[in-house]
Amino acid sequence: MTDHKTRLAVFCSGTGSNFKALHRSIAEKKINAEFLICLSNRSTCGAIHYARENGIPAIQMAENQYSDYDSFTEAMLDALKIYRIEYIILAGYMRKVPDAVVDAYRERIVNIHPALLPKFGGEGMYGINVHKAVLAAGESESGATVHMVDEEYDRGRIVLQQKVPVLPGDTPETLALRVLACEHELYPRALRKILEEMNASDAP
Ligand code: GAR
Repeated sequence: MTDHKTRLAVFCSGTGSNFKALHRSIAEKKINAEFLICLSNRSTCGAIHYARENGIPAIQMAENQYSDYDSFTEAMLDALKIYRIEYIILAGYMRKVPDAVVDAYRERIVNIHPALLPKFGGEGMYGINVHKAVLAAGESESGATVHMVDEEYDRGRIVLQQKVPVLPGDTPETLALRVLACEHELYPRALRKILEEMNASDAP
């Protein structure tokens, strides 16, 4: 590990349990990084509360606060610049990241998806919808995927996946809980891998 802590922004829309799992791994020094800002499209949510309780600046940034989409995108890029953010971590962020941000952070935006991509990804496939679709398809297993973000929903390079069984009698909610527990283990492992590979490729 180098001495440099990678500067992270986390984008969230909800409970933020993945954010918490990552933050815990950083505190335990399993990942050499730090969260500088938490950005949410919502004015309040679990992730925002958690960020503030832990001294991480949390800001709401939603499209409807700006006169047009370009201004929204500019504001997002400005915030990332002010905090000198190196990687963006999507942790239950239910909005599409603007293309200009994806372009500025090519291969430096990470997402976790609650299914085994490329299955059960794409527009509209988020949160409980994903687990409903997995059960409706009669799958015997599901899981989580950490991937890099590009301009298309859930399509970027896959970093790591972890499987969980679908059990008889599962509802979308019981499956969601099993997948979420797996996400909390997978996301820190995947982020550590990404940052180690990045450091290795930067080495002389
Ligand atoms: C997680 O299951 C995450 O994979 C999913 O939302 C949940 C957020 O939980 N993300 C998506 O569906 C994005 N397409 P959290 O707020 O407790 O981390």
